[in-house]
Formats: sequence, C-alpha cells, structure tokens
Amino acid sequence: MENGRGVTAAFVSCRRSMSLHAQQIPAPKSSPPDNGSGNVLDFHLDASKILAPAAGGENEAFAPLPLRNLDAGTKIPFNVFIKCKTQDQDQPQFMLCCPKGQVFLRDWHRKLKSLKVPWVYFPLQENEAVLNYLHFNLQDINPQNCCTDPDKAALILDAMLIWIQHFFLAEKFRTGSKLNMALDFIDLLFAFIKGSKAYLSFIVEIKHHDEVLFKHSLNVCTISLAFISYLGLTDREARFFGVGALLHDLGMTQVPRPVLQKPGRLDEAEMKQIMRHPLQSYYMLKHLSGIPKDPILMVQQHHENGDGSGYPMGLPGSSTHPWAKILRIIDSYESVTSGRPWRPAKSPKETLWDMRHEWEKSQVYDPALLRAFIKFLGDGN
Ligand SMILES: [Fe+2]
Repeated sequence: MENGRGVTAAFVSCRRSMSLHAQQIPAPKSSPPDNGSGNVLDFHLDASKILAPAAGGENEAFAPLPLRNLDAGTKIPFNVFIKCKTQDQDQPQFMLCCPKGQVFLRDWHRKLKSLKVPWVYFPLQENEAVLNYLHFNLQDINPQNCCTDPDKAALILDAMLIWIQHFFLAEKFRTGSKLNMALDFIDLLFAFIKGSKAYLSFIVEIKHHDEVLFKHSLNVCTISLAFISYLGLTDREARFFGVGALLHDLGMTQVPRPVLQKPGRLDEAEMKQIMRHPLQSYYMLKHLSGIPKDPILMVQQHHENGDGSGYPMGLPGSSTHPWAKILRIIDSYESVTSGRPWRPAKSPKETLWDMRHEWEKSQVYDPALLRAFIKFLGDGN
C-alpha cells in the first residue's frame, strides 16, 4: 500500500505531467493561484483526455467511491482523488482534488457530473474514515419511511460495498462495532426491499470495480433479504440472515489472488484451497462477538448439497441448516447470472430455465425451497 509520501509523489508527478500536457489540451479558464493552493477541479478539464474512467480494476492503493456519496458544500474527512491519464504517461495517475478536512465545493461536484465522471477515489488506507463518513450520512434515513427513494437505496449499497471492502481487508477491521455498522446497513436495505417488489433494481452492477468477491457478497445479501421477506422471516431473522449472506465467502480472503482470478480451470490443489473457504469463513465469524449461531452454521454449510455430495462435511439435506439450504440456491443463482472469469454470465431468464429443467432434477438443492425461489423470481418480474 502506498504511504502518504507516495501519494504526494503521485500527485506532484501528475501535476507536472498535466502542465507538460497543457499545450495539447484546451487552455485552462484561469491560472493557478500563486500560493500553490490551486485545485485541479478549478481548471478546465477535458474528460476524454485527462480523466479516464476506471476499467479492469484499480491500483491497490486506491478505491473508487461514487460521487453521489460526497456531500457537496461540506468538509470531507478523507483525501479525495480523481484519476487521470495523460498522453505522456503509460499508467493512469491519481491526483488529489480535495485534501482531508477541506470543503468539497458544489462547483467541483457539478463539474465532475457534467464531465460524466460519476466517481472519485480515496486511498485505501483511509477506508475507515470513509466508512464512518458514509455511515454517519445515512443516519438521516428513517427505515420506516424511506422506501420510495432509489437514490437513497443506492447510497446504502455504496456504503455496504465499502464496508465489505473494509471488513475483508484485514483482521484488525473485523470488530463488533463494524459488525453493528453492517447490521445498520442491512436494516436500512431490508426496509427498502420489503417496500419494493422489483428487488432486481437493487442488484448492483459494479462496473467500476473488478472485485468479483465484493460484488457477489453484496448481491447475495440483497437477493437474500428479498427472498426471506418473501418467505416471511421476521425482521430480526432477516438482519442475521443478511449478515451471514454478506460474510458467507469471507474465507475466500485466505485464498491467494491468482487462484481466485485464474481464468482457466483450477487444478486439484487450487480446488482444495477454494473448498476450504466455508470452514475458514466459519472460524473467522465464530470469534466475532454478536453473531448468533444460525448465520454461523449457514456460512459453514453453504456448499453442502442435498445428496451429500457437497463440502466441507458432505452433510445430507436432512442434517443441513435450513438457512444454508436457502443460501445454497441464492449463491448459485447469483454466480450463474453474474458470470466468472472462466464462464460468461447467463441471463436471469436462461438461469430460470436451467433451474426448472436441470436444478430441479438434481439432488443438490432443497426441492421445496427451489420451487419457492423459482416462484419468487417469477413474481418479481
Ligand atoms: Fe462460497
């Protein structure tokens, strides 16, 4: 991870190359102030030449944040960057546009929006400050009467994605207070989902982030909240089902990245590493206070199959926790409809056809729950 000095160096280098590049791009509308406090967002920017949208993942020192999360006209408690790429640089650079503690001007917000640059970046080492900021800003949302504003739902999903990124990053971040924060987000999201039939509108297509694991975790949690609402679980059950769904693949953080992102088929040793993840998720959650038994068992057993062919224990359906059976179906559905490095995504319609004609014949999924899920998908479309 880049330290503060590295960030400054990147900023300086980017500033320098911007000035070199200035002859090839439209002239700035004004000159930088003599005191050196000029901000890149105060100058004329050409989105097509300077600001490159993220594609295929980010520098590991930075993470994207949708612009809608910055409360324009207020102080921002973390450093905000934009990403730029000039003709004389091979790699995009991250340029500081709002230092920590400075007000993010409404004009900057408008400018980025008009340039169709709907996100900014923050240093990953500041993700705790970002998360606290997003959590605080969501306090104004009242779960009882918030169910009609899609913009607010988007803010909750943005915050949850940052939360997953934070929680999955290192053990020191996996604390009881962080878990309570996730429960707050889940309560808010559940209130939206309960009030809407179109749960698919909550499924996130994270084009600016190539971390499949984060997107999968968030989508599985979202679909889970919708499905268990349909099944009639209580609000209390929903929040703990939601947290289990969010963390079911936490153990995947112990699998080396090259194995997770391998485009071809995995060999036997790599497959064994992957198959350890339910137990690893289980051990990681077991040590956290505040998580009841049901979500912990659900996480441990989410790859068990009805015919005993699953892993890690090969439990038959009769011994598998009912929440794990529900998660088994949702986990498969989300993976198939999102695709993986080694196979393309299938449409929800194609997947529904597979579920009716292949999944139902297999002994993998609980038949009654699978029928209910198919009906739920049909009712939601
Ligand atoms: Fe899994």
